[in-house]
Amino acid sequence: METTPHRSAAELSPALSMPPRTGHEGPILEVFDLAKSLPGGRQLFSGLTLQARAGEIVAIVGESGIGKSTLLNILAGLDGFDRGDVRVEGESIRELDEPARTRLRRERIGFVFQAFHILPYLTLRQNVALPLALVSSKGEALERRADALLEAVGLGTRGGDYARDLSGGELQRVAIARALVHEPALILADEPTGNLDPETAARVLALFADSVRRGRSAAVIVTHSHATAAIADRVLTLSAKGLGETRSGRDGLS
Ligand SMILES: Nc1ncnc2c1ncn2[C@@H]1O[C@H](COP(=O)(O)OP(=O)(O)O)[C@@H](O)[C@H]1O
Ligand SMILES: [Mg+2]
Repeated sequence: METTPHRSAAELSPALSMPPRTGHEGPILEVFDLAKSLPGGRQLFSGLTLQARAGEIVAIVGESGIGKSTLLNILAGLDGFDRGDVRVEGESIRELDEPARTRLRRERIGFVFQAFHILPYLTLRQNVALPLALVSSKGEALERRADALLEAVGLGTRGGDYARDLSGGELQRVAIARALVHEPALILADEPTGNLDPETAARVLALFADSVRRGRSAAVIVTHSHATAAIADRVLTLSAKGLGETRSGRDGLS
């Protein structure tokens, strides 16, 4: 763990401020009657419906192998589906061609992959800055924002280190910083605290909650952790029949 004093994302807000997003009305994420089967023919789920509004965190739980990671990949336009549709800020993933889907993903989606996908031969700062570099911010502003995010996940002094030397928990925090750096409309995170000690998990969950609620984005977080479910507005269980309500409201957790 880092020993540098932690500043909250709000305190970092000057460096964290990004241009406002285009004013989309309605839910940020809308999923209609989604069905997915695997290449061998096995059906993972069907009739899956989901909405996430600006400022809302949805947690998804479900047994291993049920299709949680596959669902997140579909929401990001990284995997196909058999029926239904996914709309991000009103744009239909089904109707977009591949270049437009790539643009949508770069500009409006932040993804924390279960396996991190951090590039080992880039520094932490370069890894975190990558989404911004892809959407055209440049130079010092880009580095300042990458550093602000690294500080928010407790890696403020490590921006110049190479990612190849990091532990799993450190890689996970870099992945979280990278997913938030461009203030995406939709944040998708696959077990984002699975490698973190409780104290560090609490810190990054606070960052998630702050980014979503202040940034008016929406988040879908796959999790097994009670701490993550506790920051969610809704906890939904994935099964072959789609997503079912587990409980509602942040205070509903027993
Ligand atoms: N590309 C693929 N080809 C075949 N099977 C896959 C593919 N991707 C995932 N699966 C299978 O789909 C099921 C759901 O996987 P996954 O979405 O990773 O589940 P979860 O994240 O809920 O543990 C698993 O049985 C997995 O083996
Ligand atoms: Mg998974």
